[in-house]
Amino acid sequence: MAKRKPKKKKMKGIILAGGTATRLFPLTATTSKQLLPIYDRQMIFYPLNILIKAGIREILIIVAPEHSGQFLNLLGSIFEKYNIHLEFKVQKVPKGLADAFIAGEDFIDNDNVAMILGDNIFEDSARLARDIKLFKKGGIIFAKEVPDPERFGIVEFDKNGKVISIEEKPEKPKSHYCVTGIYVYDHNVAKIAKKLSPSERGEIEVTDINKKYLKMGKLAVNKIKGAWLDAGTFDSLLEAGNIVKEKKIYRDFDPIINKAIKEFNKELKILAKKRLA
Ligand code: TTP
Repeated sequence: MAKRKPKKKKMKGIILAGGTATRLFPLTATTSKQLLPIYDRQMIFYPLNILIKAGIREILIIVAPEHSGQFLNLLGSIFEKYNIHLEFKVQKVPKGLADAFIAGEDFIDNDNVAMILGDNIFEDSARLARDIKLFKKGGIIFAKEVPDPERFGIVEFDKNGKVISIEEKPEKPKSHYCVTGIYVYDHNVAKIAKKLSPSERGEIEVTDINKKYLKMGKLAVNKIKGAWLDAGTFDSLLEAGNIVKEKKIYRDFDPIINKAIKEFNKELKILAKKRLA
Protein backbone atom coordinates (compact mmCIF):
# COMPACT_ATOMS: atom_id res chain seq x y z
CA MET A 1 0.00 0.00 0.00
CA ALA A 2 1.29 3.47 -0.86
CA LYS A 3 2.45 5.51 2.13
CA ARG A 4 0.13 8.42 2.92
CA LYS A 5 1.82 11.80 2.64
CA PRO A 6 1.94 13.59 6.03
CA LYS A 7 -0.56 16.48 6.17
CA LYS A 8 1.14 19.84 5.61
CA LYS A 9 1.05 21.88 8.81
CA LYS A 10 -0.88 25.10 8.74
CA MET A 11 0.13 28.26 10.56
CA LYS A 12 -2.58 29.37 12.96
CA GLY A 13 -2.72 32.59 14.97
CA ILE A 14 -3.48 33.48 18.58
CA ILE A 15 -3.94 36.96 20.01
CA LEU A 16 -3.70 37.14 23.78
CA ALA A 17 -6.17 39.89 24.60
CA GLY A 18 -7.24 39.14 28.18
CA GLY A 19 -5.46 40.31 31.31
CA THR A 20 -6.56 42.89 33.85
CA ALA A 21 -4.78 46.01 32.52
CA THR A 22 -4.45 47.54 35.98
CA ARG A 23 -1.94 50.10 34.75
CA LEU A 24 -4.66 51.61 32.58
CA PHE A 25 -7.32 51.96 35.28
CA PRO A 26 -9.85 53.63 35.11
CA LEU A 27 -9.90 53.40 31.27
CA THR A 28 -10.05 49.63 31.48
CA ALA A 29 -12.85 49.60 34.04
CA THR A 30 -15.30 50.02 31.13
CA THR A 31 -13.59 48.21 28.28
CA SER A 32 -10.71 45.95 27.41
CA LYS A 33 -7.24 47.46 26.91
CA GLN A 34 -7.12 45.85 23.46
CA LEU A 35 -10.30 47.69 22.45
CA LEU A 36 -8.90 51.12 23.30
CA PRO A 37 -7.99 53.26 20.28
CA ILE A 38 -4.57 53.54 18.73
CA TYR A 39 -5.08 56.50 16.40
CA ASP A 40 -8.00 55.58 14.10
CA ARG A 41 -8.77 52.01 15.12
CA GLN A 42 -8.92 49.64 18.07
CA MET A 43 -5.62 48.22 19.34
CA ILE A 44 -6.62 44.63 18.47
CA PHE A 45 -6.42 45.44 14.73
CA TYR A 46 -2.64 45.89 14.96
CA PRO A 47 -1.77 42.31 15.99
CA LEU A 48 -4.58 41.07 13.72
CA ASN A 49 -2.90 42.88 10.83
CA ILE A 50 0.35 40.97 11.27
CA LEU A 51 -1.41 37.60 11.35
CA ILE A 52 -3.61 38.37 8.34
CA LYS A 53 -0.63 39.76 6.40
CA ALA A 54 1.19 36.50 7.15
CA GLY A 55 -1.61 34.68 5.33
CA ILE A 56 -3.09 33.16 8.50
CA ARG A 57 -6.78 32.40 8.14
CA GLU A 58 -7.60 30.77 11.50
CA ILE A 59 -7.17 33.02 14.50
CA LEU A 60 -8.06 32.51 18.16
CA ILE A 61 -8.61 35.61 20.30
CA ILE A 62 -8.28 35.01 24.02
CA VAL A 63 -10.30 37.51 26.05
CA ALA A 64 -11.27 38.28 29.64
CA PRO A 65 -14.82 37.19 30.61
CA GLU A 66 -16.19 40.70 31.14
CA HIS A 67 -15.21 41.82 27.61
CA SER A 68 -16.21 38.89 25.44
CA GLY A 69 -19.42 40.62 24.25
CA GLN A 70 -17.53 43.74 23.19
CA PHE A 71 -15.03 41.73 21.14
CA LEU A 72 -17.90 39.89 19.46
CA ASN A 73 -19.65 43.18 18.64
CA LEU A 74 -16.57 44.44 16.86
CA LEU A 75 -15.09 41.32 15.28
CA GLY A 76 -17.92 38.78 15.36
CA SER A 77 -18.64 38.80 11.64
CA ILE A 78 -16.56 41.41 9.81
CA PHE A 79 -13.98 38.97 8.44
CA GLU A 80 -16.31 36.13 7.48
CA LYS A 81 -16.63 37.08 3.82
CA TYR A 82 -12.84 37.18 3.50
CA ASN A 83 -12.57 33.57 4.57
CA ILE A 84 -10.88 34.51 7.82
CA HIS A 85 -12.15 32.42 10.67
CA LEU A 86 -11.98 34.04 14.12
CA GLU A 87 -12.61 32.08 17.31
CA PHE A 88 -12.93 33.49 20.78
CA LYS A 89 -11.98 31.90 24.06
CA VAL A 90 -12.53 33.27 27.53
CA GLN A 91 -9.58 33.17 29.91
CA LYS A 92 -11.23 33.27 33.32
CA VAL A 93 -8.06 34.16 35.22
CA PRO A 94 -4.90 35.75 33.77
CA LYS A 95 -2.48 32.89 34.42
CA GLY A 96 0.42 34.21 32.36
CA LEU A 97 1.47 34.55 28.72
CA ALA A 98 2.26 30.85 28.34
CA ASP A 99 -1.39 30.09 29.14
CA ALA A 100 -2.21 31.19 25.56
CA PHE A 101 -0.96 27.78 24.40
CA ILE A 102 -2.88 25.82 27.03
CA ALA A 103 -6.12 27.74 26.43
CA GLY A 104 -5.40 27.31 22.72
CA GLU A 105 -4.36 23.65 22.78
CA ASP A 106 -7.40 22.26 20.93
CA PHE A 107 -7.32 25.15 18.48
CA ILE A 108 -3.62 24.62 17.66
CA ASP A 109 -4.16 20.88 17.32
CA ASN A 110 -1.26 19.50 15.27
CA ASP A 111 -0.39 22.77 13.50
CA ASN A 112 2.12 25.59 14.00
CA VAL A 113 1.13 28.76 15.79
CA ALA A 114 2.05 32.47 15.86
CA MET A 115 1.02 34.18 19.10
CA ILE A 116 0.95 37.97 19.51
CA LEU A 117 0.24 39.94 22.65
CA GLY A 118 -2.87 42.03 22.10
CA ASP A 119 -1.23 45.24 23.27
CA ASN A 120 1.92 45.06 21.14
CA ILE A 121 2.30 47.47 18.23
CA PHE A 122 5.06 46.84 15.67
CA GLU A 123 6.09 49.26 12.95
CA ASP A 124 7.57 46.68 10.62
CA SER A 125 4.53 44.43 10.19
CA ALA A 126 5.65 43.39 6.69
CA ARG A 127 8.92 41.93 7.96
CA LEU A 128 7.20 40.06 10.79
CA ALA A 129 4.57 38.67 8.43
CA ARG A 130 7.31 37.47 6.07
CA ASP A 131 9.22 35.72 8.87
CA ILE A 132 6.04 34.00 10.08
CA LYS A 133 5.41 32.77 6.53
CA LEU A 134 8.96 31.40 6.33
CA PHE A 135 8.67 29.44 9.61
CA LYS A 136 9.73 25.80 9.26
CA LYS A 137 10.30 24.23 12.69
CA GLY A 138 11.06 24.78 16.39
CA GLY A 139 10.46 28.33 17.58
CA ILE A 140 11.15 31.88 16.45
CA ILE A 141 11.06 34.94 18.68
CA PHE A 142 11.81 38.54 17.74
CA ALA A 143 14.32 40.75 19.53
CA LYS A 144 14.54 44.52 19.51
CA GLU A 145 17.39 46.71 20.75
CA VAL A 146 16.27 48.81 23.74
CA PRO A 147 18.03 51.41 25.92
CA ASP A 148 16.68 49.96 29.21
CA PRO A 149 17.27 46.19 29.10
CA GLU A 150 16.72 45.71 32.86
CA ARG A 151 12.94 45.95 32.23
CA PHE A 152 12.68 43.07 29.74
CA GLY A 153 13.51 39.49 28.85
CA ILE A 154 17.02 39.79 27.40
CA VAL A 155 18.71 37.65 24.76
CA GLU A 156 22.46 37.03 24.87
CA PHE A 157 24.23 36.28 21.57
CA ASP A 158 27.72 34.84 21.00
CA LYS A 159 30.14 36.47 18.57
CA ASN A 160 28.65 34.53 15.67
CA GLY A 161 25.17 35.82 16.49
CA LYS A 162 24.02 32.52 17.99
CA VAL A 163 21.67 32.78 21.00
CA ILE A 164 23.21 31.55 24.23
CA SER A 165 20.85 32.67 26.95
CA ILE A 166 17.58 34.40 27.75
CA GLU A 167 17.18 36.11 31.10
CA GLU A 168 14.05 37.75 32.51
CA LYS A 169 14.65 41.33 33.78
CA PRO A 170 18.37 40.82 34.54
CA GLU A 171 20.19 43.13 36.96
CA LYS A 172 23.26 42.93 34.73
CA PRO A 173 21.90 42.54 31.18
CA LYS A 174 24.17 40.68 28.78
CA SER A 175 22.85 42.62 25.78
CA HIS A 176 20.38 45.32 24.81
CA TYR A 177 18.19 42.96 22.79
CA CYS A 178 14.84 42.25 24.40
CA VAL A 179 12.20 39.68 23.55
CA THR A 180 9.12 41.32 22.01
CA GLY A 181 5.53 40.08 22.19
CA ILE A 182 5.38 37.85 19.15
CA TYR A 183 6.20 34.16 19.28
CA VAL A 184 6.07 31.42 16.64
CA TYR A 185 6.24 27.75 17.60
CA ASP A 186 5.61 24.28 16.28
CA HIS A 187 2.74 22.12 17.59
CA ASN A 188 4.79 20.95 20.60
CA VAL A 189 4.28 24.25 22.37
CA ALA A 190 1.06 23.23 24.19
CA LYS A 191 2.74 20.13 25.59
CA ILE A 192 5.68 22.25 26.78
CA ALA A 193 3.41 24.94 28.30
CA LYS A 194 1.42 22.35 30.24
CA LYS A 195 4.55 21.15 32.02
CA LEU A 196 5.56 24.62 33.28
CA SER A 197 5.35 25.64 36.92
CA PRO A 198 4.31 29.17 37.87
CA SER A 199 7.11 31.68 38.47
CA GLU A 200 7.60 33.73 41.65
CA ARG A 201 4.93 36.16 40.45
CA GLY A 202 2.49 33.25 40.13
CA GLU A 203 2.32 33.20 36.31
CA ILE A 204 3.39 30.65 33.73
CA GLU A 205 6.03 32.43 31.71
CA VAL A 206 6.60 32.40 27.98
CA THR A 207 10.30 32.92 28.79
CA ASP A 208 10.32 29.37 30.18
CA ILE A 209 8.94 28.08 26.86
CA ASN A 210 11.71 29.94 25.02
CA LYS A 211 14.32 28.47 27.37
CA LYS A 212 12.99 24.97 26.60
CA TYR A 213 13.24 25.51 22.83
CA LEU A 214 16.71 27.05 23.31
CA LYS A 215 17.86 24.02 25.33
CA MET A 216 16.63 21.73 22.55
CA GLY A 217 18.63 23.84 20.06
CA LYS A 218 15.41 24.77 18.27
CA LEU A 219 15.05 28.48 18.99
CA ALA A 220 15.78 31.17 16.40
CA VAL A 221 15.91 34.83 17.40
CA ASN A 222 15.31 37.35 14.63
CA LYS A 223 16.39 40.94 15.28
CA ILE A 224 13.81 43.51 14.26
CA LYS A 225 14.01 47.21 13.48
CA GLY A 226 11.40 49.95 13.65
CA ALA A 227 9.15 51.06 16.45
CA TRP A 228 7.87 48.52 18.98
CA LEU A 229 5.53 49.47 21.79
CA ASP A 230 3.44 47.71 24.33
CA ALA A 231 0.58 50.11 24.80
CA GLY A 232 0.01 49.15 28.44
CA THR A 233 0.53 52.49 30.19
CA PHE A 234 -0.95 55.96 29.66
CA ASP A 235 2.30 57.21 28.15
CA SER A 236 2.92 54.25 25.86
CA LEU A 237 -0.73 54.26 24.76
CA LEU A 238 -0.46 57.91 23.77
CA GLU A 239 2.97 57.37 22.21
CA ALA A 240 1.69 54.45 20.15
CA GLY A 241 -1.10 56.60 18.70
CA ASN A 242 1.33 59.41 17.92
CA ILE A 243 3.87 57.08 16.30
CA VAL A 244 1.17 55.45 14.15
CA LYS A 245 0.15 58.92 12.97
CA GLU A 246 3.63 60.37 12.50
CA LYS A 247 5.09 57.34 10.73
CA LYS A 248 1.87 56.72 8.84
CA ILE A 249 1.80 53.13 10.08
CA TYR A 250 -1.96 53.13 9.36
CA ARG A 251 -1.01 52.87 5.68
CA ASP A 252 0.52 49.44 6.25
CA PHE A 253 -2.74 47.65 7.01
CA ASP A 254 -3.68 44.66 4.94
CA PRO A 255 -6.42 45.67 2.45
CA ILE A 256 -8.71 43.03 3.97
CA ILE A 257 -8.64 44.81 7.33
CA ASN A 258 -9.28 48.21 5.76
CA LYS A 259 -12.19 46.88 3.72
CA ALA A 260 -13.70 45.09 6.73
CA ILE A 261 -13.48 48.24 8.86
CA LYS A 262 -15.01 50.36 6.09
CA GLU A 263 -17.96 47.98 5.76
CA PHE A 264 -18.39 47.88 9.53
CA ASN A 265 -18.43 51.69 9.64
CA LYS A 266 -21.10 51.73 6.93
CA GLU A 267 -23.29 49.39 9.01
CA LEU A 268 -22.76 51.59 12.07
CA LYS A 269 -23.88 54.66 10.13
CA ILE A 270 -27.05 52.91 8.96
CA LEU A 271 -27.80 51.88 12.54
CA ALA A 272 -27.14 55.40 13.80
CA LYS A 273 -29.55 56.84 11.19
CA LYS A 274 -32.24 54.33 12.17
CA ARG A 275 -31.89 55.34 15.79
CA LEU A 276 -32.37 58.99 14.93
CA ALA A 277 -35.39 58.33 12.71
P1 TTP B 1 0.42 42.56 30.68
O1 TTP B 1 0.57 43.94 30.15
O2 TTP B 1 1.59 41.91 31.30
O3 TTP B 1 -0.79 42.50 31.73
P2 TTP B 1 -2.13 43.31 31.73
O4 TTP B 1 -2.58 43.59 30.33
O5 TTP B 1 -3.11 42.56 32.58
O6 TTP B 1 -1.77 44.74 32.33
P3 TTP B 1 -1.30 45.30 33.79
O7 TTP B 1 0.12 44.86 33.97
O8 TTP B 1 -1.43 46.78 33.59
O9 TTP B 1 -2.25 44.79 34.86
O10 TTP B 1 -0.09 41.59 29.51
C1 TTP B 1 0.45 41.64 28.23
C2 TTP B 1 -0.62 41.24 27.24
O11 TTP B 1 -1.04 39.90 27.43
C3 TTP B 1 -1.89 42.07 27.31
O12 TTP B 1 -2.36 42.25 25.99
C4 TTP B 1 -2.85 41.23 28.12
C5 TTP B 1 -2.42 39.82 27.79
N1 TTP B 1 -2.55 38.83 28.86
C6 TTP B 1 -3.59 37.88 28.80
O13 TTP B 1 -4.42 37.92 27.89
N2 TTP B 1 -3.62 36.90 29.74
C7 TTP B 1 -2.73 36.81 30.75
O14 TTP B 1 -2.82 35.85 31.55
C8 TTP B 1 -1.70 37.81 30.83
C9 TTP B 1 -0.70 37.76 31.93
C10 TTP B 1 -1.65 38.78 29.87
